[in-house]
Amino acid sequence: MLNIILCGAPGSGKGTQSAFLAEQYGLAHLSTGDVLRAEIKSGSELGKKIESLISAGNLVSDDLIFGVIERFIAQLPKDCKGMIFDGYPRTVAQAESLTELLKKNQMDAIMIDLMVDEQLLTDRLLERGKISGRADDNIDTIRHRIAVYHEQTEPVAKYYLHKGNYFAVNGNHTVEEVSLQLKRIVELATR
Ligand code: AP5
Repeated sequence: MLNIILCGAPGSGKGTQSAFLAEQYGLAHLSTGDVLRAEIKSGSELGKKIESLISAGNLVSDDLIFGVIERFIAQLPKDCKGMIFDGYPRTVAQAESLTELLKKNQMDAIMIDLMVDEQLLTDRLLERGKISGRADDNIDTIRHRIAVYHEQTEPVAKYYLHKGNYFAVNGNHTVEEVSLQLKRIVELATR
């Protein structure tokens, strides 16, 4: 089973490249951001709490995310070729619980880190903000999201680097060039 964790700062291209990898390798795609936005859209009490965290650019709790992941893995079809985790794990605690959960299911994952310059991240998100309607695509929240990424998510990269299944990709290039780099890594990792 091919399981890929796609990590990177806000605007690094996780969603864009996850869609490509899911299509290319027939993987089940889980975007924790999309799941959380769907909960907000449902109008539930939980959704209201999530909305205040996301619109401020903060992470939601590890416990809540763990429930999302458990349900996703439990619902996978038997013939599933693998999974792509888009925007998860974002804290070392999430990474540790994912390792345990995968181990329990006799699985492992590789981690691919999309590295993009900060100015480019901001430009991409501001551009998307013109049409996305996302409450977190404005300059103040973008800055805060990037700061949260440095503080809470960068250590996740170190966690996988130590584990030995870490790959970094230069995400400053065009969508097509980045996809090509990802394809090369997946082929290398599955050889
Ligand atoms: P999430 O939805 O995951 O947002 P994010 O991490 O901030 O990432 P984005 O969706 O903004 O960017 P992306 O890296 O996916 O890039 P994209 O492909 O969209 O999470 C939102 C919030 O939910 C978090 O802030 C947090 O509150 C909460 N959350 C989610 N997961 C969580 C977790 N595990 N734990 C706790 N809280 C969690 O591209 C961005 C733009 O750039 C697009 O317009 C795209 O077209 C463009 N673009 C992409 N690639 C390129 C390229 N190569 N060249 C030019 N343009 C490009």
